[in-house]
Amino acid sequence: MLTAYDATMARLLDRAGIDVLLVGDSLGTVILGCDTTLPVTLDAIVHHTRAVKNGTNRALIVADMPFLTYQVSAAETVRNAGRLLQKGGAAAVKMEGGAAIADMVKRLVAIGIPVMGHVGLTPQSVHQLGGFRSFGKRPEEAEKVAEDARQLERAGAFAVVLESVPSSLAAAVTAELKIPTIGIGAGPDCDGQVLVSYDAFGLFDAFVPKFVKQYAKLGEVITEAAKEYIAEVQSGQFPGPEHSSR
Ligand code: KIV
Repeated sequence: MLTAYDATMARLLDRAGIDVLLVGDSLGTVILGCDTTLPVTLDAIVHHTRAVKNGTNRALIVADMPFLTYQVSAAETVRNAGRLLQKGGAAAVKMEGGAAIADMVKRLVAIGIPVMGHVGLTPQSVHQLGGFRSFGKRPEEAEKVAEDARQLERAGAFAVVLESVPSSLAAAVTAELKIPTIGIGAGPDCDGQVLVSYDAFGLFDAFVPKFVKQYAKLGEVITEAAKEYIAEVQSGQFPGPEHSSR
């Protein structure tokens, strides 16, 4: 699984054979330039999910439910998740939290909306956690991650993201659950892996988490290409005869 926020990136990743495209609320940081994911709105995720849908033929599209779109009431949760499917074109939604949102997950699943869970470091709770930090090293935190994952499975979630948890904990949760786990900063023993595409391709370099592998350095490629373009326009080399209409 990789994140995508626009049709062009979705087309490239879909062509590469990615199984799942996540329209993550990480768009708040990597696309909108915010410090956290908290300012991301439902309208923004609907807008970007529609773009990703337009570029995708094959991959499963999962849309993140932003902060406060699934905590207030069951009615609002259903309406908001429904919009992500109906207007955005997603096939499933992702929600952060475990026991605290299990009833909402159950409700969505009961009416036919597939839900992916997300436990461990849940970035929408950054202020409660005291920063973006790994979660689950202390025994009580590890038990919370395991119990939250169990409750999500019981509520009908079809998969669960484990973010920034110790590898041994991720391995134990993966062995216990029947649904697939998808790890990010959670070691090699999860059933699947996810990365933020802007991290994986070296586009977002404001902060590179330790668990990220940069499969390309597209940020550098783009900056170099832009410098070349600027120089060629300034020197008059571009547009030359081959790029001009007669
Ligand atoms: O918003 C996001 O991109 C995510 C992934 C990091 C799992 O939730």
